[in-house]
Amino acid sequence: MFSLVLFFIGIGVVNSKISGIKYIPRFDNNPKANETTIQNDLGLITDSANSVLISYRTDYNATYMLDHFYKKNVDVYVEISEHSFNDPNLKYLDNLENLMSHKTFESVKGVMLTYYEEENYSNRILIDDIKSVKNRLKDVNSNIKVGINYWFNVGREYSQYPSLKTVKNAFVGKEIGKSIDYLVLDALFDFSTIDPSFFINSIYSKDLDELLKLGIKVDIATGILSEMVYHNQSINGILDELNCKKTENLDYFIDLNRSSLFEDQELKTYKEIQKYVFDKTKCKNIVDN
Ligand SMILES: *[C@@H]1O[C@H](CO)[C@@H](O)[C@H](O)[C@H]1NC(C)=O
Ligand SMILES: *[C@@H]1O[C@H](CO)[C@@H](O)[C@H](O)[C@H]1NC(C)=O
Ligand SMILES: *[C@@H]1O[C@H](CO)[C@@H](O)[C@H](O)[C@H]1NC(C)=O
Ligand SMILES: *[C@@H]1O[C@H](CO)[C@@H](O)[C@H](O)[C@H]1NC(C)=O
Ligand SMILES: *[C@@H]1O[C@H](CO)[C@@H](O)[C@H](O)[C@H]1NC(C)=O
Repeated sequence: MFSLVLFFIGIGVVNSKISGIKYIPRFDNNPKANETTIQNDLGLITDSANSVLISYRTDYNATYMLDHFYKKNVDVYVEISEHSFNDPNLKYLDNLENLMSHKTFESVKGVMLTYYEEENYSNRILIDDIKSVKNRLKDVNSNIKVGINYWFNVGREYSQYPSLKTVKNAFVGKEIGKSIDYLVLDALFDFSTIDPSFFINSIYSKDLDELLKLGIKVDIATGILSEMVYHNQSINGILDELNCKKTENLDYFIDLNRSSLFEDQELKTYKEIQKYVFDKTKCKNIVDN
């Protein structure tokens, strides 16, 4: 044990946690989430990431997750959807009330409202929802940020979703752009038609810069790591890119394909993430290219 510690000090390398993980467990054959699996997943997330985006649903015990991450000092963002509980009468605020009554909710960093229909983002109702959620959260902790998510397509395969340029146009100069504290951009792509450098260059573009000028925080959510691991590619390069481009207002969540981490693929991805070491000196070459 002692020599192992010396070894790590000697080479001066410590495995680096990644920024964030988007964890929305899905148990296809078992709608009630299997607690053992979730416990294992939460352990892996805690070891691998500084923050986590979880979803508030009835399929699993979300307050258990809040408690776990609170104890482990992992920053938590919670996605709340009007569809969470399959009850059309429940609105964001109703769902939020349920969660807010839980003690560790106070330490949540952000709440993310999800709409499933893209056209709703220009909708008055959404802006009003954001305002009322913000007001309500002030009673708990005025530092909790309120954001929304938006799907966009990188490349051409998911053409039913908007491009980043269209996303930018939906927010810049619009009331919705002034209403939110942050935006989670879910990048959809087909790995067979685009490579990681195309992916990075398509996202970190002038459209993204313009969104950032709104003064909001932007998080890129991407499932690209699982895809790369699946194709036996090293994830170090892309994590370097994501980490080097990271600023106070620009960060990322790794989406683990919305399935249980204990499915082989996700577990493999985790193993790779845990081996990753970030070295800041690499950034010079990457950022200036
Ligand atoms: C939970 O999942 C684990 C791993 O798949 C399995 O061994 C266990 O039997 C499951 N438990 C329940 C209660 O379904
Ligand atoms: C969910 O987890 C919390 C602890 O974090 C516990 O108090 C509660 O009983 C759990 N709820 C269910 C339905 O298991
Ligand atoms: C979202 O948009 C659809 C289609 O325009 C509309 O039918 C629905 O009422 C909208 N929902 C909300 C909550 O605004
Ligand atoms: C991710 O999930 C989608 C379906 O939701 C699947 O088609 C795809 O193959 C998965 N990717 C990996 C790398 O597991
Ligand atoms: C990845 O490598 C494994 C082991 O060598 C191999 O079985 C698998 O087919 C490879 N996957 C792809 C997508 O090439």
